[in-house]
Amino acid sequence: MQTDKKVAAVTGSRRGIGFAVAQRLLEQGYFVVVSATAGEIDARQAMDSLRKISENCVYIQCDISDERQRENLIESVSSKCGRLDVLVNNAGVAPAARMDLLETTQESYDRVLDTNLKGTFFMCQLAANAMIRMRAQNITGFMPRIINIGSISSYVSSVNRGEYCISKAGISMVTKLFADRLAEYGIPVFEVSPGIIETDMISSVKEKYIEAVHKGLTPIGRLGQPKDIADSVLALCSGMLDFATGQVINADGGFHIRRL
Ligand SMILES: NC(=O)c1ccc[n+]([C@@H]2O[C@H](COP(=O)([O-])OP(=O)(O)OC[C@H]3O[C@@H](n4cnc5c(N)ncnc54)[C@H](OP(=O)(O)O)[C@@H]3O)[C@@H](O)[C@H]2O)c1
Repeated sequence: MQTDKKVAAVTGSRRGIGFAVAQRLLEQGYFVVVSATAGEIDARQAMDSLRKISENCVYIQCDISDERQRENLIESVSSKCGRLDVLVNNAGVAPAARMDLLETTQESYDRVLDTNLKGTFFMCQLAANAMIRMRAQNITGFMPRIINIGSISSYVSSVNRGEYCISKAGISMVTKLFADRLAEYGIPVFEVSPGIIETDMISSVKEKYIEAVHKGLTPIGRLGQPKDIADSVLALCSGMLDFATGQVINADGGFHIRRL
């Protein structure tokens, strides 16, 4: 697995937004570490499809809510690839069932927060320490960076999935904290904040969202596609925005614009 190519690890990249990010990074010549909760057999279809773009990818199973699996992912990348240029913290879950704030269960709260917020925080920490060590090795072309996938839910209230909103609001602060702490090491940290993106995650509410978008919910009148988010990630990987650490890219069809 040792490679001279830039190495990117993308959590939750067996499908949806993460898969599109992996595709785009492979197209740009990165070596991509694809990762998700599924075992190797269930990841085979996604990997076969990615290998049609390039053989420069590998699958490492990692449930980001599990400390040991988080450590294994970053240790494996460090030891086998020798470098980690980009970590995309994309893995995330919605509540298994949307429940009113007055009835949210502790189980759902813990599941969503443990994955989306705690998982992302400690993935940032592990990657940051690995990138700081790699910085000292003067690796050719090394351009370390961390990109967190947040959500419009970080600032929009949805009272039937409060635990998700809280987790995404937390990710915004995780981005700011690590951007602040890692600036001295030349490691920018960014957030991409997707709007409504057509993936499995929204399948249960897709028709409702399509109707809302058609009625003018967003200035750009269409649902987002995973590629829209992948392209934002690529822009942040380019190095052209590196005086802007901690910046949030609202890849949301203009949803964040308050309108009168
Ligand atoms: N879709 C939207 O409208 C939207 C909007 C704003 C933000 N986002 C955010 O974008 C990210 C990707 O969402 P998506 O729509 O692509 O979701 P998705 O289609 O449901 O795919 C989620 C991916 O994350 C993986 N995953 C779930 N739990 C994980 C865990 N504990 N550890 C590691 N991987 C895990 C899944 O793994 P398996 O494949 O193994 O199941 C899957 O590959 C999430 O953070 C989500 O909150 C999505």
